[in-house]
Amino acid sequence: MPEPWTPDSWKTKDVSQQVTYPDPAVLAQVQAEIARLPPLVTSWEVEALRERLARAAAGEAFLLQGGDCAESFDDCAPDTIATNFKILLQMSLLLVHGTRTPVIRVGRIAGQYAKPRSSATEERDGVTLPSYRGDIVNRSPFTAQARTPDPTLLLRGYERSALTLNFVRALADGGFADLHHPENWDLSFAKDSPHHDEYRRIAESIKDAIAFMEAVTGTQSLPLRRVDLYTSHEALSLEYEQAQTRQVPRRTGWYDLATHMPWIGMRTADPAGAHVEYCRGIRNPIGVKVGPGMSDEQLTAVMERIDPEREPGRLTLIHRLGADRVEAELPRLIEAVRRNGRTVLWCADPMHGNTETTASGIKTRRFDRILSELQQAFDVHAGLGSHLGGVHFELTGENVTECIGGAGGIEEGDLHLHYRSKVDPRLNYQQALEMALLITRRLRRTSAGRAE
Ligand code: PEP
Ligand code: CO
Repeated sequence: MPEPWTPDSWKTKDVSQQVTYPDPAVLAQVQAEIARLPPLVTSWEVEALRERLARAAAGEAFLLQGGDCAESFDDCAPDTIATNFKILLQMSLLLVHGTRTPVIRVGRIAGQYAKPRSSATEERDGVTLPSYRGDIVNRSPFTAQARTPDPTLLLRGYERSALTLNFVRALADGGFADLHHPENWDLSFAKDSPHHDEYRRIAESIKDAIAFMEAVTGTQSLPLRRVDLYTSHEALSLEYEQAQTRQVPRRTGWYDLATHMPWIGMRTADPAGAHVEYCRGIRNPIGVKVGPGMSDEQLTAVMERIDPEREPGRLTLIHRLGADRVEAELPRLIEAVRRNGRTVLWCADPMHGNTETTASGIKTRRFDRILSELQQAFDVHAGLGSHLGGVHFELTGENVTECIGGAGGIEEGDLHLHYRSKVDPRLNYQQALEMALLITRRLRRTSAGRAE
């Protein structure tokens, strides 16, 4: 018999990255208030995503997951939300073109507010304070007051998520996402990219395909006027997730209705720990980050715990091994899953294993290494008869200078120009689109290979 699960049974386990709130009574009040408010997503959306992910695991769809490393309350603004949505949409169209399969768009959005930290405290000039853990936990200025965990931020985070999602849903449903006008999309990519012509050709060919289909059917295709965008975030603050965990009429089980697809971060993927305990009891599709330190036994134990029924679409393994280690580490992980007799959705996160700090102390990532990890990941999966069915990026639609390289030629000395991330460096608009284009080329080659 499996142990009984409740939305708060995680509290009986070891909680890594735990936040200590100074006043538990205020925390309980805030959680009760969040629980009374409407859900952010619905159970049928969660079920639909899970079915689509099952198709991706079977090679019939492709997952594109991306967005900010950490959303910030200040960036809950129309331009930021719209540009982040736009870049995901444009990347997804390139990928549709390359894979000839449906692309499932999942944003790191509307709740990506809690961050795991390697150290619980930060020291500056002899002063030690709690680390910044994301806007939903505390604030980033280096003062004792800002760094003290504040439970009312959970409520602020829930509200910001609702505002973000409200706008995203409207954008997804209206003229903004209308595929009849792909020419609207290449604004800033247009001028200076060497890939511009290729991108424009693809946009033109999408437009032609739509026109052709509509001419044949004699109708304007309504589904092309809207797109889906699902939400995801790291299920790190279990106080937050628990408060939105519900049962719904006419369905069995519990749903985390704070997001469609929560994931378990690398630092909290202990099979006996609180985060795995929480996620095992909810019906949502679950992502698990898999880093180079994950042993085969640990991976197998996590899979058994989260997906004992082996339901297609339930589990997405997001490997983030680093360009230097992916070739050595990935095969054993693929074999471990195979030995366990499972089909999972494999997704590559080429960002988190490739973070470095420059001599002047700026956290960055190199475009070439990100691309290299991805290419190696595609090769390793293909070589073992496995299937890489998704990619996971930290990116923004804005023209930041956080990662080095790409056709725009951002150099180390440029990083300070528009560095905005409070945590990890993100691909900017041009770098993200270029990355999608290069993956697309690669996928076209693979599918041509398969067809031969
Ligand atoms: C993240 O995705 O922002 C993150 C912290 O990843 P990981 O858990 O893989 O380090
Ligand atoms: Co990150």
